[in-house]
Amino acid sequence: MKPAVVYSNVWEDPELNRLSLKVEPGQSVLSITSGGCNSLCLLLEEPEKLISIDLNPAQLAMLELKRAAIIELDYDDFIEVLGVPFFRKPSAKPAEYRLELYERIKKHMPAYATDFWNENKQIIKDGVMMCGKVEKFFAFYRTVLKWLYGEKEILKLFEAKDLQEQQEVYRNFRKKKWNALHRILLNRTVLSLVKGAHSFAQVDFEDFAGNLNRKRTLGLTRFYNPDNYFMSLMLLGAHYHEKGMSPYLLRENYPKLKKNIGALEIYKGTIGDVLKKDGPGSYDRFNLSNIFEWMTNEQFNDIIREVIELARPGARMAWRYTLARPRELDAENLSRLEYEPELSDKLFKQDRAFIYESFHVYHLK
Ligand SMILES: C[S@@+](CC[C@H](N)C(=O)[O-])C[C@H]1O[C@@H](n2cnc3c(N)ncnc32)[C@H](O)[C@@H]1O
Repeated sequence: MKPAVVYSNVWEDPELNRLSLKVEPGQSVLSITSGGCNSLCLLLEEPEKLISIDLNPAQLAMLELKRAAIIELDYDDFIEVLGVPFFRKPSAKPAEYRLELYERIKKHMPAYATDFWNENKQIIKDGVMMCGKVEKFFAFYRTVLKWLYGEKEILKLFEAKDLQEQQEVYRNFRKKKWNALHRILLNRTVLSLVKGAHSFAQVDFEDFAGNLNRKRTLGLTRFYNPDNYFMSLMLLGAHYHEKGMSPYLLRENYPKLKKNIGALEIYKGTIGDVLKKDGPGSYDRFNLSNIFEWMTNEQFNDIIREVIELARPGARMAWRYTLARPRELDAENLSRLEYEPELSDKLFKQDRAFIYESFHVYHLK
């Protein structure tokens, strides 16, 4: 099967990585790629080196495209070539312009990535930012939601003057049809068909819809929607305004991103492969995304052992779960790692990506 992009965006709050990992200038960071956004956000923290790893070459091709654009283009063309969507502000440029930009940047990409994008030029014309399977699933979800409520009603969730007014709008929102949609679409059977049953092997409960209804309520009552790009991308398919974007997309951060892009290594492989390649004691910080979601305790602990071997003194690491119960460290790993419960809990409560079940911060003892 040809590789396909599953996540064109990272649906994880980069602020949680920034505030948990506390990258110091000159350090080496290992980061799971997904859509590449959070690896690029960590580059803004001035590491000497950042290795962004993934097993799916399409995810790596996505990050290669973003990197090539950062090297070659000015800010406006960077936003253009990615097709970054803004609510009710479509690009003034024709779709062909994105292909022209791709022709300009592809000299900075390795062959596997240009092979991928040469075969997928239509995606570049459409805008790569919303091309992943997850983003397409959200597009379908949005279409049904709009059909159930009408756009005007959904938009009310974005038009409040402040968070307090938004909470009031949400309280009065007729949620019956929304809850029913979750019951039909977001249950173990349907989600297992979409993502494979193994993805949910470590989820203990059956009421997926109830869980996601609760998280939706948190998302819509804790954060002001116009500023929360996770909510606007999910419900409107676009950023509500130019300030409400991932840090790597912000105009003011672009010079820093350009300056630091040379520190980025894009690598296909696992943490074990990085250990073989770079040797023990090579990394200070680890963004582990939610790679443990479906793993058994044994698989989890084996990877943590590799992380510990790769880690330098004082190393910090973070991971999360979407629906699954947290895996447990075995005695050997527990003797090497110190949990930071207060920071984990505090950061979890400020997670604008709101769909997650837990967030975990550790450091090497
Ligand atoms: C774990 S998924 C989660 C995505 C994420 N929650 C998001 O919102 O973008 C992120 C990426 O990790 C990659 N991945 C999963 N397990 C991995 C592993 N053991 N080593 C390297 N990459 C892995 C997947 O291919 C995927 O692109």
